[in-house]
Amino acid sequence: MIVAIDGPAASGKGTLARKLARHFGLNYLDTGLLYRAVGALVLAQGKDASDTVMATRAAKALTPADLDRGDLRSEAAAIAASKVAAIPQVRAALLAFQQDFAAMPPGAVLDGRDIGTVVCPMADAKIFLLASPEVRAQRRVKELQARGEEVIYSAVLSDLRARDERDSGRSTAPLKPASDAICLDTDNLNAEMVFKIAVETIGEQIAANRRRGT
Ligand code: DC
Repeated sequence: MIVAIDGPAASGKGTLARKLARHFGLNYLDTGLLYRAVGALVLAQGKDASDTVMATRAAKALTPADLDRGDLRSEAAAIAASKVAAIPQVRAALLAFQQDFAAMPPGAVLDGRDIGTVVCPMADAKIFLLASPEVRAQRRVKELQARGEEVIYSAVLSDLRARDERDSGRSTAPLKPASDAICLDTDNLNAEMVFKIAVETIGEQIAANRRRGT
């Protein structure tokens, strides 16, 4: 069983995907972490994250230990991730790892931007989370403040908008719902409500697949 959770930054993908993985007894992969690790490796070399040669080299050399770096949740890593993610060679280098992970028994929940469209187009269930930039920025501010970081709402909002634009506007695997994804607007929902709706939706998608014989 493979469940694809896609959506823009701070839409609650990680929280939902982690809960779903626990609920269904599946593995979980936060694919954003791969791009964050590549971005952080490039920055650590003193290079710009848009440097195609450096970013591609970092993506090809990525090891599981690189995903344990302590700085991957920072805003700097998020912005760098969004930049390296626009480089087709970087995406190509990270694709097999994600697909192999998804294929491991008993199956997996993956969250990202292109899981339903590119990484796992045959996923058993696909959910695309939506939320307005303002609501997402408020959520991100709370999250960063809880970690003791000093943040300014307007700066977080403008970073989110810039990231949305880069993630949706790139030519390779842009952020967009798969044609068979269920879109869920979470502006007025808390995490528990989103989880409940998602579990129902996944059940319905799996039942519909069975009826179609896929
Ligand atoms: O999910 P996140 O915020 O940790 O992702 C960081 C960046 O990585 C995001 O701005 C775009 C990129 N990304 C991507 O292009 N494709 C994915 N499957 C996951 C993340």
